[in-house]
Amino acid sequence: MRLRNVKNKEEILSNSKYFITNPFTYKGNWNSLFKNNNPIYIEIGMGKGKFIIENAIKYPNINFIGIEKYDSVIARALPKIPPNLNNLFIIRIDALDIDNVFSKEIDRIYLNFSDPWPKVRHSMRRLSSKIFLSKYDFIFKNKKTIYMRTDNKDLYIYSLISFSEHGYKLKEISFDLHNDKKDLITTEYEDKFTSLNLPIYAVIVEIDT
Ligand SMILES: C[S@@+](CC[C@H](N)C(=O)[O-])C[C@H]1O[C@@H](n2cnc3c(N)ncnc32)[C@H](O)[C@@H]1O
Repeated sequence: MRLRNVKNKEEILSNSKYFITNPFTYKGNWNSLFKNNNPIYIEIGMGKGKFIIENAIKYPNINFIGIEKYDSVIARALPKIPPNLNNLFIIRIDALDIDNVFSKEIDRIYLNFSDPWPKVRHSMRRLSSKIFLSKYDFIFKNKKTIYMRTDNKDLYIYSLISFSEHGYKLKEISFDLHNDKKDLITTEYEDKFTSLNLPIYAVIVEIDT
């Protein structure tokens, strides 16, 4: 995501009760931070946060954690969160570290409009590559469930193959999500692509354990 630097980003992050400064200390204990045993859903690469914030508002009995690599992007998301949510936290990590932050406690992963990394030599940087899928194995509680959306057909096809090769069952495949489903909570990128009448590709994949 190309985003101009936010000058007071450190201040925005450190003043927000939703931003967790040292997420590594909560590994295996995220439910204690939420003070309940509700399911935990994470979005990896949340961008400016529209999707995860709207989900947290709509589903108070689900705990949400937004994951993003860049301070400047997080600084755009935090001010949008209403003051009294108790089911949402935001963390800054590279997804490569995800298995150092969570252990057997995640119920669902959202991958929304992940960077496509089109060059073959960069394919292992894709969040649906086998490197990441192997890391996700350590963080799921029971059933492994990933919800993916993208505008990028090549990334979509690559991901369907990668998920299948890793043992995931492809549950709901859509080559035009907004034609197939209504009343969706959307992301910032999604709104941009749908306003241009571009199709959104989506899939839900699962492994029962
Ligand atoms: C194309 S944007 C999509 C943002 C948002 N999900 C949306 O749909 O509007 C991808 C986001 O993923 C973040 N990202 C990419 N690789 C990441 C990684 N390895 N770990 C954490 N965040 C990552 C980027 O910083 C960027 O904000």
